[in-house]
Amino acid sequence: MTENIDIYKDHGRECLLKVENLSKHYIIAGARLKDKIIIDAVRNISFEVFEGDSLGLIGESGSGKSTAANMIMRLVEPSEGRIYLFGKDITMLDENGMRKFRKDLQIIFQHSNAVLDPKMTIGELLSEPLKIHGIVRDSMINDEVDRLLGMVGLSPAEKVKFPGQMSGGQVQRVIIARAISTRPRIIICDEPVSALDVSVQGQILNLLKSLKDELGLTYVFISHDLKVVRFICNRIAVMRNGEIVEIGTSAEVLGNPSHAYTKQLMESNL
Ligand SMILES: Nc1ncnc2c1ncn2[C@@H]1O[C@H](COP(=O)(O)OP(=O)(O)OP(=O)(O)O)[C@@H](O)[C@H]1O
Ligand SMILES: [Mg+2]
Repeated sequence: MTENIDIYKDHGRECLLKVENLSKHYIIAGARLKDKIIIDAVRNISFEVFEGDSLGLIGESGSGKSTAANMIMRLVEPSEGRIYLFGKDITMLDENGMRKFRKDLQIIFQHSNAVLDPKMTIGELLSEPLKIHGIVRDSMINDEVDRLLGMVGLSPAEKVKFPGQMSGGQVQRVIIARAISTRPRIIICDEPVSALDVSVQGQILNLLKSLKDELGLTYVFISHDLKVVRFICNRIAVMRNGEIVEIGTSAEVLGNPSHAYTKQLMESNL
């Protein structure tokens, strides 16, 4: 069933994504055959993301950030709760039903090197989503690929290369170009710089920030690094053991943290 929700609650800004009482329990085999271990990866989380927001999801390793992201993408089946995208309930949609949302909701994965097919050239990798989603006419694809490369600071000459012939920072730029190629409204960035050398992390963060402004994007931005989140996010949700323990504007959460765990995170990030 598709249910419409009130999507214009925040001073006329549209609520693009709403997560309501979302949980994920993984059941894995224990040491003995009949033993079952339940892992509460995400517990009853709720939040809204409004147009133009950059909502930071922070928390230590294993706190459930990627599981939450993957449920929103409908790559992981939620155990309980609901997900609304652009006011439509997408919780139960199958791949076919999700197809029309895929172009508007993109993800940049935590371990993104594995995402690109090593046998495809950069030109092919960028043409693919343009063709699948019919973003431009076939005769315009080559120009559009050049334009996308330019937007992420790469030259058209890179088109002939394979991912293995590029640096980590360049590969991440290609991945960002693919994410923006379908002209999405929301991008979930799951630790988009954590696998990169420190020297290029800042460049990629600057790129993500300027693309957000230029294209009017909305981000859910996952990180365990408070400095990163402070730089790019206007709102922050703090996760611990699968729960959101604190959520508010960046100024509220970082300026006056109310939860002991947030204070602890801030101290350990100094
Ligand atoms: N497929 C799975 N099967 C069983 N348990 C899983 C699975 N995926 C994740 N988990 C568990 O769920 C919990 C949350 O994992 P998740 O990857 O969401 O954390 P995270 O906050 O993204 O961590 P990190 O910062 O290291 O990326 C962890 O305890 C993890 O071991
Ligand atoms: Mg993760």
